[in-house]
Amino acid sequence: SKLEKFVDELPHMPKILGYHLSDGVPKSKSLKIGMFKKKWKFHRDLAPATVYAFGTTKHTATVPGPTIEAIYGVDTHVRWQNHLPPKHILPWDPTIPTAMTNSTRGIPTVVHLHGGIHAPESDGNANAWFTSKYNERGPTWTKKTYHYPNNQQPGNLWYHDHAMGLTRVNLLAGLLGAYIIRHPQIEDPLGLPSGDEFDRTLIVFDRSFRTDGSIFMSSTGNNPKIHPQWQPEYFGDAIIVNGKAWPRLTVRRRKYRFRIINASNARFFRFFFTNGLRFTHVASDSAYIEKPVTTNETLVGPSEITDIVVDFSQSKSNLAILANDAKYPYPAGDPVNEANGKVIKFIIVPDQEVDTSRVPKRLLEYPVVDLSSVAHTRYVAMYEYASDIDEPTHLYLNAKPYEAAATETPKVGSTEVWYVINLTEDNHPLHIHLGLFKVLDQTALVKPDDEFRECMKKINDAVKCHVDKYARGKKEEVPAHERGWKNVFKMIPGHVTKIAVRFSYIHTNASYVFDATTEPGYVYHCHVKYTYHFF
Ligand code: C2O
Repeated sequence: SKLEKFVDELPHMPKILGYHLSDGVPKSKSLKIGMFKKKWKFHRDLAPATVYAFGTTKHTATVPGPTIEAIYGVDTHVRWQNHLPPKHILPWDPTIPTAMTNSTRGIPTVVHLHGGIHAPESDGNANAWFTSKYNERGPTWTKKTYHYPNNQQPGNLWYHDHAMGLTRVNLLAGLLGAYIIRHPQIEDPLGLPSGDEFDRTLIVFDRSFRTDGSIFMSSTGNNPKIHPQWQPEYFGDAIIVNGKAWPRLTVRRRKYRFRIINASNARFFRFFFTNGLRFTHVASDSAYIEKPVTTNETLVGPSEITDIVVDFSQSKSNLAILANDAKYPYPAGDPVNEANGKVIKFIIVPDQEVDTSRVPKRLLEYPVVDLSSVAHTRYVAMYEYASDIDEPTHLYLNAKPYEAAATETPKVGSTEVWYVINLTEDNHPLHIHLGLFKVLDQTALVKPDDEFRECMKKINDAVKCHVDKYARGKKEEVPAHERGWKNVFKMIPGHVTKIAVRFSYIHTNASYVFDATTEPGYVYHCHVKYTYHFF
């Protein structure tokens, strides 16, 4: 049966403060947040599904989890607790490197704060997983309580499971939530729409459901002879926002701020309004941009965040649907259909009050990247080759498996230039942990580039394979709203993307020295297949 759209109200996820106020002054706080197996109703007409949910108690746990709000410079400590019983609710695959084995007595999880800049021991390394009561722990597990100093520019982060070989299914089961760092002294004067009603976080993902209401994931892998259950990509037909399928929201004719997180495993969204309303971008993943940018549409890859202001007073109609027209897989897959092409319905009503919020001409300023002081240049090649035994294509990052030892150690506080060469067919959202980067340009590889591909396959050395000779095609314009500091960006297939990466906090005012107490261990990976790479 077909689910009726726009029948559920858009939920507010519960809010947890990552600080406490003592005489009006924010002070550091320790939180306990658990992962629970429970039931969650995704739609008025669906029976509750079994999910894994974050919350302070099982009763209050939600999908997505509570939104954690931290304050700049005030430490938040979180003891992430795993209360999950042994049997996974979704098909997982023992034939890929995974934390779970047939003898694991609980479901391994570990939490990564995506976009956070903190010590590596609190990063949620894929092998730092643990099961219920910390009974079993992965090889790189070090501690129960993670420390987030919140000492970075204000912005939008999210937390999600990051366990080896299980991230796919643990996210599909519900283990994700939003995390906001606020910096009132520098954000309040901006005058953007604020407060719970006008500043809203929207966590968007796709899921399919069985008729009994449970989350559907095919239990047959792409190549069942070798990997019985492994499917590197997941696409669902229902679009879920804050835990409800195609919700609706009544808004006033005024400005609203929406922090939109694409928490899908593989689906890209190109959002637009059916009545021509526009987006004014103020930030993207984890940082404000310098100046607002207005667009008609916005392409958001898996794990990317777009932070926009929408002025409903400009609406010509009293209804507006936030829609999506990104093919799946992006960019060469199927066109959207009636179901996955719709996201939320806004019902626009008159505003009795004067809207005093605004979008200022300038937002925040950052120091310029000095390319002359670059500490290191790296080439990262992404490719997928079917093996001789016709295994499903794996994503390789520089031909090294995740388990390989860290190859190089970038210095904390240094800036590097990376050339990311996407030799696959798909657009891959590259994510780097514990640092931020700026996209400098994206250049097409000139054809015929088969020689280059062959060479890379053989010796995997972009310089020796003369990448310069091939990276001379058309330059793809990086959209103005994506030229700020980010932690994820879309690597266009057949292109070389040049980025400047900075491994530390990027301050808007003072300079700050990152005090790493241990050697940094950084992770970067594609956010579709969760093939982790470590360097
Ligand atoms: Cu959003 Cu390594 O993760």
